Amino acid sequence: MDVFQKCRDFERANEVKASGLYPYFVPLGGHVGAEMEIDGHGIIMLGSNNYLGLTDNPYVMEKAAEAIKRYGTGCTGSRFLNGTLDLHIELENRLAEFLGRERVITFSTGFQANLGVIATLAGRDDIIYVDRSVHASIIDGARMSFARVQKYRHNDIDQLRHMLGKHGDHGALIVTDGVFSMEGDLADVPGLTKAARDFGARLMVDDAHGVGTMGEHGRGTAEHFDCEQEVDILVGTFSKSFACIGGFAAGPEDVIDYIMHTARPMIFSASLPPAAVATVLATLDILENEPSLLKKTHRVAERARKGLSELGFNVGNSVAPIIPIIVGEEMLTFRFWKELFNEGVFTNPVISPAVPPDGALLRTSYMATHTDEMIDRAVDIFETVGKRLGLI
Ligand SMILES: Cc1ncc(COP(=O)(O)O)c(C=O)c1O
Repeated sequence: MDVFQKCRDFERANEVKASGLYPYFVPLGGHVGAEMEIDGHGIIMLGSNNYLGLTDNPYVMEKAAEAIKRYGTGCTGSRFLNGTLDLHIELENRLAEFLGRERVITFSTGFQANLGVIATLAGRDDIIYVDRSVHASIIDGARMSFARVQKYRHNDIDQLRHMLGKHGDHGALIVTDGVFSMEGDLADVPGLTKAARDFGARLMVDDAHGVGTMGEHGRGTAEHFDCEQEVDILVGTFSKSFACIGGFAAGPEDVIDYIMHTARPMIFSASLPPAAVATVLATLDILENEPSLLKKTHRVAERARKGLSELGFNVGNSVAPIIPIIVGEEMLTFRFWKELFNEGVFTNPVISPAVPPDGALLRTSYMATHTDEMIDRAVDIFETVGKRLGLI
């Protein structure tokens, strides 16, 4: 059969478009801030991962512009051969110091970091244990590795321990999100570190949403639980709190050295452009010097969480500045999204396979730059639309 046939048979997006509720690829015409204009009307942005609100911070933008002037727009080659700037090394050293890790290596996206680390560390003879709710890039990294993959129920450490009890002579790598990306709940990192220790496995935590939001200094979910040194490898991204794009892996010197010399998604892909590296360095300056920003993000999210749960919405078990509003049915979720959008609130509808088929939800996320007034206005709009649709 023609490999194009599936494209021609693909009707799902057109059906949603025909219903007038299509919520994807919405073009944004300006800075991604707490409140912005879309299609000529003001909208409160509850759909961005810009947790610290730094994407349009004047200091950060200035540093990015300076880097373009000094280094140009791109490196046009991979870190391995001709795409390493002194700026990349500076960032890796700064991050290693910030995170209290021996060494850091950067990738051009967080997705690539997961592919690179997992497929480098695990191979045919190994077993990778993943939480059922992990990010797609972890699943793809595990597939790329050719290792056997075993999924344990979400945060079910007993089931994981049962599985680990059978790994025998195979190498074992446990991989989890730190903050789960769709629902904002946390992995039981202390339980995972203990399981790893008890059964001779290694633990990798992808804390894309946790670094910059969790822990007193923003070092992530393991800092929050006070067990940082028991996590073997920490992976993260610059596409959320760090207001840019890129990814990193942090861990022991010899492990990172091996990853640098073998991870195909890094070796065979161009390096982070200078403006991106300078952006991340500037956001690190801010994160280190203004810890109040992190607390502000949580205060904003707490205000929204309280408002939404008092209205009777099902907001799951979120702890991070991500709050899901669980709806269940897909088309109802799209309608909810559309009516909120029309009334002035931007959210993200999330459907299967990112969540289970009957678990469609609106993902909302919060920034240090949201004001109380914006949050209260958004909650009022949720109330109006929620009542209109019979959700509360
Ligand atoms: C948990 C998690 N890991 C990895 C990624 C990929 O990050 P990036 O956008 O840097 O490719 C994401 C992004 O959505 C994520 O949520």
